[in-house]
Amino acid sequence: MRLLVAGMTGQLGAGITEVLPEGTTVVPLLRARSSGRHPVDPALAATAVHGDVVRPMWGLVPEDLEVDAVVNLAGETNWAGRSSDLIGTNVLGAEHGYRLARRLGVPYVYASSIYVAGGMLGTVPEAPLPSGPDRTAYEHSKWLAECRLGQLATEPGAVPLLIARVCALIGNSSTGRTLKRSSLYLLADRWDDLPAGVLPVMRGALVDALPRDTAATLLLRAVRALCDTRPEEPLVCHLGAGETAPSVNSVLDAAHGLDPMRFRREPRFVKAPVRPLVWLTQNADRFAGLSASWHNSLIGLRYVAMERVFPRAVLASLVGGDLPRADPELMASLVFGLSRRRFDEPRKGRAMTMARFPG
Ligand SMILES: NC(=O)c1ccc[n+]([C@@H]2O[C@H](COP(=O)([O-])OP(=O)(O)OC[C@H]3O[C@@H](n4cnc5c(N)ncnc54)[C@H](OP(=O)(O)O)[C@@H]3O)[C@@H](O)[C@H]2O)c1
Repeated sequence: MRLLVAGMTGQLGAGITEVLPEGTTVVPLLRARSSGRHPVDPALAATAVHGDVVRPMWGLVPEDLEVDAVVNLAGETNWAGRSSDLIGTNVLGAEHGYRLARRLGVPYVYASSIYVAGGMLGTVPEAPLPSGPDRTAYEHSKWLAECRLGQLATEPGAVPLLIARVCALIGNSSTGRTLKRSSLYLLADRWDDLPAGVLPVMRGALVDALPRDTAATLLLRAVRALCDTRPEEPLVCHLGAGETAPSVNSVLDAAHGLDPMRFRREPRFVKAPVRPLVWLTQNADRFAGLSASWHNSLIGLRYVAMERVFPRAVLASLVGGDLPRADPELMASLVFGLSRRRFDEPRKGRAMTMARFPG
């Protein structure tokens, strides 16, 4: 499988580099002038092409490309970013990517976000979502991209389309390496700033997150399945921990269990009413002069505070089941930088009997 992938220098792209199976080649789309946030892995340079997702056809000459699918992981992921940047990269970029895939006659995969759900609670469907007043600028850009792709998929010459709503990404499951400390990491980084150690969350708030290598493996399986089955209808799926996502309490309990001294103050949960929480995390920057970092943290609060689940039935039917399960202890160890408990392995050849103890 040969994939044209935009966004390979980001967190999810790093996960793909870590798990790329033999027989799959990535042709990374690199920006001539990268944001500088993500240094380019020399291993990517060999097969790279240069362009920009905000340009028609991503600035590429389609006739020069020979790929089996186009995968768009490029995104403006600063939740507190300017609307023009968010719309340019996330919406225009998504649309140009689809047009490029259509010209090449190959399937197209767009990395959206589970956060496109905005303030929705309960079971979020793996289907186009209605408009709503409570999305942040980032969430709105992802929603507009999904709508636009849905429209393009009804036009003549449509190609197989998968909108994969990615969950929160944390570092590599073995090495812990991460490119950035957004999403769940904010919980760890801001813990000591919480007033009186109080975390306002809904009673059944869940955190849907996967290590980047686990998410990347799942994404590659979905891309392969899309190429093999070439469904006629566009698909929307949740690429995350789904119904196995743990509660925020259990992640913090796991962190506490791994290192009882971790928290200066015991975690304290206050049941939060959802509407004020959604409003505050969407609008506070209009009334208070928040730095970009605080603004991101405040928006991040809605991603750990809401009671909702992102089911994976569409994903399961596409890839044939065997989906990853969330592991709260692994999550806690990656996010809070704690070592997991290791239990002694019995040494080979030594019988595990009471014979050790002389009679
Ligand atoms: N990380 C998460 O927790 C998370 C959660 C839900 C959804 N997602 C979605 O998953 C996708 C990947 O996220 P990520 O965390 O890997 O993102 P990231 O770490 O912020 O990386 C963004 C990537 O997009 C590239 N990019 C940005 N603008 C571009 C442009 N105009 N043209 C070409 N490339 C451009 C960047 O390249 P440069 O090196 O040139 O800047 C970088 O490779 C995004 O769509 C994001 O919205 C991520």
